[in-house]
Amino acid sequence: MSQSLSEEPAAMTTEARCPVSHLAESFDPFTDSYLQDPYSFWAGARAEEPVFYSPSLDYWVVSRYQDVRQVFMDTDTFSAAISITPLKELCPAAVDELVKAQMVMGPSLVNEDPPLHTQRRQHIRDALVSPRRIEAVRPRIRELAGRYIDHFVQRGHADLVTDFAWEIPALVAFALMGVPDEDVERAKQFSGRLALFTWGYPSDEEQMQLAAGMGQYWTYAKEHVARRLKEPTDDYISELIKSWRTPGNEDLFDENYLVTTMMNFLFAGHETTTNATANGLRSLLEHRDQWDALCADPSLATNAVEEVLRYSSSVIAWRREVVKDVVVGGVEIPAGSKILAVTGSANHDESVFPEPEKFDVARSNAKRHFAFGTGRHLCIGAALARVEMQIFLEELTRRLPHMRLVEDQNFAYSPNTSFRGPDHLLVEWDPSANPIEADRPS
Ligand code: HEM
Repeated sequence: MSQSLSEEPAAMTTEARCPVSHLAESFDPFTDSYLQDPYSFWAGARAEEPVFYSPSLDYWVVSRYQDVRQVFMDTDTFSAAISITPLKELCPAAVDELVKAQMVMGPSLVNEDPPLHTQRRQHIRDALVSPRRIEAVRPRIRELAGRYIDHFVQRGHADLVTDFAWEIPALVAFALMGVPDEDVERAKQFSGRLALFTWGYPSDEEQMQLAAGMGQYWTYAKEHVARRLKEPTDDYISELIKSWRTPGNEDLFDENYLVTTMMNFLFAGHETTTNATANGLRSLLEHRDQWDALCADPSLATNAVEEVLRYSSSVIAWRREVVKDVVVGGVEIPAGSKILAVTGSANHDESVFPEPEKFDVARSNAKRHFAFGTGRHLCIGAALARVEMQIFLEELTRRLPHMRLVEDQNFAYSPNTSFRGPDHLLVEWDPSANPIEADRPS
């Protein structure tokens, strides 16, 4: 397991840049109590000290809705350059592992700024998630959801992470990217390490092992891009290669950019949706009246997805770098500072969402959440993630309306600042009461 911040103060920047409050001192996003329930901490922060400097992280932490919005919208002041830089500086042994794999991660959409970001984003969006591509993949999502439910529907119990939400978003994202089905398990193993490597605070030993995995992942992405450069198909990387080869676009991409993009998208395209689905099912089943309302009226699914993303998002914090002195929430923040914009807290801000701790699938403004960020970098996969989550809810409420959470289970979360979803979600039901006759044991 990763160490908590309080166990490793020597490795962190400790210089006092501002008076550090008790709240800032107590902020440790890697402790189990925080991982289990980050929202209580943020309710206090929004009320007491909505913008504070965390000396242990060396980040300015921003928790109110309007302030988080300012950080996302003002791209002249807040650069995306550090958004996927490992939170903990790499130790020499980890650097050696990356050098061994000849891994040279350049920028990719998520950590670049205008004007290049603007030009590239348009091509990438068209290649990856055009409305045509999403419509084309819709039947595949429903078919996969149905097939995975078939595997456990007569069993009477399941782990909705490992038996359901873990693989389907990966199969969808990887199909879009041209990764063959038989490589999914391997690719998923690689990308699964990215959250801890980038947003966690691993020990040096762990970091070295994670870096070795990153190296293999890089090699895998590099080989995939090389294959497509030789023989393009109709997948996303091939579309991007086509764009790159269009006269006028020669300087827009290079091979290294494609490999970095491939690697980041494999991760962004599924881990987030797996976690959001698991968080959503947990929230719905813990609020039985909301689950029952959804079962009774499946047309609520679209809004239920938004409320799930607001109430318990799979991405709860994102990063930016300050490029010129700025004031956020009345606090002066100097150029060169780093910002942790806590979108999960903004999504519970009472000034925007009345009774924010209430989970309400009919909430009228649920869609104003920042689960996908906002502004120029707004998640490019948001439409795809929404379609997937909606179909999952439709299929599960139709076939297993009577399922319930197994009592007294412990939920485990990966120790990192940003990606949140339980490792397992155990449910059970009486299979002889399955509403669809063909789903009942014979
Ligand atoms: C519930 C699922 C998802 C969540 C919660 C999520 C969340 C996010 C967040 C918070 C950002 C950063 C926004 C910013 O910097 O302002 C982002 C960016 C991005 N996401 Fe997602 N994401 C999800 C699904 C996906 C999927 C399915 C894909 C790909 C198929 C994807 C691809 C991307 C890309 C390429 C970016 C960078 C966009 C840019 O910088 O212009 N995401 N996402």
